[in-house]
Amino acid sequence: MNRRRRIYEGKAKILYEGPEPGTLIQHFKDDATAFNAKKHEIIDGKGVLNNRISEYVFTHLNNMGIPTHFIKRLNMREQLIREVEIIPLEVVVRNVAAGSLSSRLGIEEGTQLPRSIIEFYFKNDALNDPMVSEEHVTAFGWATPQEIDDIMALAIRVNDFLAGLFLGVGIKLVDFKMECGRLWEGDMMRIVVADEISPDNCRLWDIATNDRLDKDRFRKDMGGLLESYQEVARRLGILNEPE
Ligand code: C5P
Repeated sequence: MNRRRRIYEGKAKILYEGPEPGTLIQHFKDDATAFNAKKHEIIDGKGVLNNRISEYVFTHLNNMGIPTHFIKRLNMREQLIREVEIIPLEVVVRNVAAGSLSSRLGIEEGTQLPRSIIEFYFKNDALNDPMVSEEHVTAFGWATPQEIDDIMALAIRVNDFLAGLFLGVGIKLVDFKMECGRLWEGDMMRIVVADEISPDNCRLWDIATNDRLDKDRFRKDMGGLLESYQEVARRLGILNEPE
């Protein structure tokens, strides 16, 4: 492999400079982290699965006219993406109570929410990604009111697509996290979905058994993380395709 300039290394991914200006290569590592990396393990093959699952999701989003940073998968662990200006927010969409919503508000895990709820968290490891309101987002200039509207519209469309996709293969989409970026084309800018969408950042429960098919297996020491990610890929029909 050619030597490439590393632009950024995160907990589960590395970004390298891409072949053309305005592109990057997103490399999926096998690192599993939780609780802001206080818990860390290498799970052989996780990066390969997340690359494939995220490719599948982003390809469908692009085809549906939901703009994303994704261009194409390059190999087992890497995809070509457009360079965007990442908005420093984690956008969480919830359909069913779980995780921090259940602990914060005392709502039993598994309770269907009256409607989908969108939350914003400030991306800042040193502060443990605190939850913030739209007031914080606009006051501190992380995004404009128009951008917040665009982000929420994207989040709702992504949620509708993902919920239907997973329902079709017997999986309940409990919640997920997405990130957005500003994509500049000349002096035109639009907000696009960035980062990845995989069982690392979704809660996916088997509809029949409520089995966890996501990173909660790692967070809660349940074991079987790789097998559950494989199961998600298998149900989506993306395992065992030729490279
Ligand atoms: O922990 P919490 O309940 O707030 O997580 C909500 C959703 O966001 C879960 O699907 C979780 O996997 C995802 N998430 C994430 N990265 C974080 C925090 C949460 O992908 N840093």
